[in-house]
Amino acid sequence: MPTVEFAGETIEANVGDNLRRALMDAGLSPYNGAAQYTNCRGNAVCGTCTVEIVDGDVEEPTTRERRRLKMPPLDPDDGLRLSCQVTIEDDLVVEKHPGYWGQKVDRDGT
Ligand code: FES
Repeated sequence: MPTVEFAGETIEANVGDNLRRALMDAGLSPYNGAAQYTNCRGNAVCGTCTVEIVDGDVEEPTTRERRRLKMPPLDPDDGLRLSCQVTIEDDLVVEKHPGYWGQKVDRDGT
């Protein structure tokens, strides 16, 4: 049974579970601020459920997910994923970055 570390919590999930749904079922949220109310409910449209997969293997993003990750203010070079499009297959360490979309990735500590 894979585990997911997120926001200081460790939850158990099943192989094949959707990451966004697993977090929310555990009372955790992949959203910042008002995005928890205004999101697209897992349809890869709003881009607010982004997370960074810090550790663990996940499948490559689909064309649909890649398309959304290229839309500003997201930056495809930040390596974020839409949690609503990630299937849990392995133990994961997941981080949410600041910003409405979770887009404020600070790679150089500035
Ligand atoms: S919930 Fe909107 S893109 Fe994931």
